[in-house]
Amino acid sequence: MLKKIKVEHVVCGMFIRELCGSWMEHPFWRTRFLLDDPKDLASLRDSSIREVWIDTSRGRDTEAVEAVVTPEERDVAVPAPLQFIPDTGRDREPASTREELERAATICRKSRQAMTSIFGEARMGRAVDTELARKVVEEITDSVTRNSRALVSLARLKNADDYTYMHSVAVCALMVALGRELGLEDTELLAAGEAGLMHDIGKAAMPLEVLNKPGKLTAEEFAVMKRHPAEGHRILQAAAEALHPVTLDVCLHHHEKMDGSGYPEGLTGEQITLYAKMGAVCDVYDAITSNRPYKAGWDPGESIRKMAEWADGHFDPRVFQAFVKSLGIYPVGSLVRLESGRIGVVVDQSSASLLKPVVKIFYSTTSGCRIPPKIVDLSAPHQKEAIAAREDPAAWPFPDLDELWSGLPQERQTRDRREA
Ligand SMILES: [Fe+2]
Ligand SMILES: [Fe+2]
Repeated sequence: MLKKIKVEHVVCGMFIRELCGSWMEHPFWRTRFLLDDPKDLASLRDSSIREVWIDTSRGRDTEAVEAVVTPEERDVAVPAPLQFIPDTGRDREPASTREELERAATICRKSRQAMTSIFGEARMGRAVDTELARKVVEEITDSVTRNSRALVSLARLKNADDYTYMHSVAVCALMVALGRELGLEDTELLAAGEAGLMHDIGKAAMPLEVLNKPGKLTAEEFAVMKRHPAEGHRILQAAAEALHPVTLDVCLHHHEKMDGSGYPEGLTGEQITLYAKMGAVCDVYDAITSNRPYKAGWDPGESIRKMAEWADGHFDPRVFQAFVKSLGIYPVGSLVRLESGRIGVVVDQSSASLLKPVVKIFYSTTSGCRIPPKIVDLSAPHQKEAIAAREDPAAWPFPDLDELWSGLPQERQTRDRREA
């Protein structure tokens, strides 16, 4: 039986079914678990969560005289887990990139932990925790709705060892941002996000020595890796009734290409759904901009340029154009040289022009040294400064580049070193 009780009445041995309050505010990354560690109980009491749902069929019952359950809640059918969860209030008010970056860093960290768990369970042959995935998708969708650039920019930053998990988070955010640009409705955005989050779940079925190989794959290894869409589809089918159908479609078809040269089915053009076409674009962008064991990620602006070269035959042109519009020709984090010879990093887009983003200037090529950072909106009236060229970050000694555009110290970006 499910009971909603006050946090003061929670004791060790209870099975927590749901924490009432935003997933972002509670100290756990799981949404349901047996509370068997006194330290977890202490952190629950210290948190802002005031009430929880417990499942008395899976853990200790409450001895409190009265469990906190409203008459309506008591009448709710127990077997359908998604129905009883109260709406915790979703914040979708617009925020500036600077404001959203702080929150996005926390969302990235919690989402990475959740995806580590989801992949780990899948690797052991257990069912996907669709409820946890739904929470991750909701948080990411809300963040991208508040500001379309903060989370997608942060999720690009990843270490070689958390690539698969952060790639899922990044593709989820990119799918939502792209979906918004394409005019998708709220429920469609959640479906697009879920599809992005789960698209590579089949990698949980790949041999670790191939998945984590620090170098180029042999032809045989690549043939093994090409099975991940079908393996993912198989894993998701076990939880299909709790997932959006597009999630299964994108999982199976995100490596299809418009000219039929993709896999696993070699579909062409209109045989590929809109969501799978979106998945293909977001997947490639995140893969090439990410650091891997064998290569550093490419600059975001350079990646957009390269993708435009490949677009013909690979991507749907309308989807690719919308993608560029959603991120910018020089996405946040791109290194650029200005016509004055100064170097800057893109910190935001302007509404006026994709070619005139907001840039933080911090280096002078004339003097060959750093200058006090200055933020310049290239689209501002009477602004004479303009972008002259993209710059390759690998060619410059700027180890703090990500800190410069995000304003977050390295340990606050996507990784929390104390938890790593
Ligand atoms: Fe994939
Ligand atoms: Fe992928």
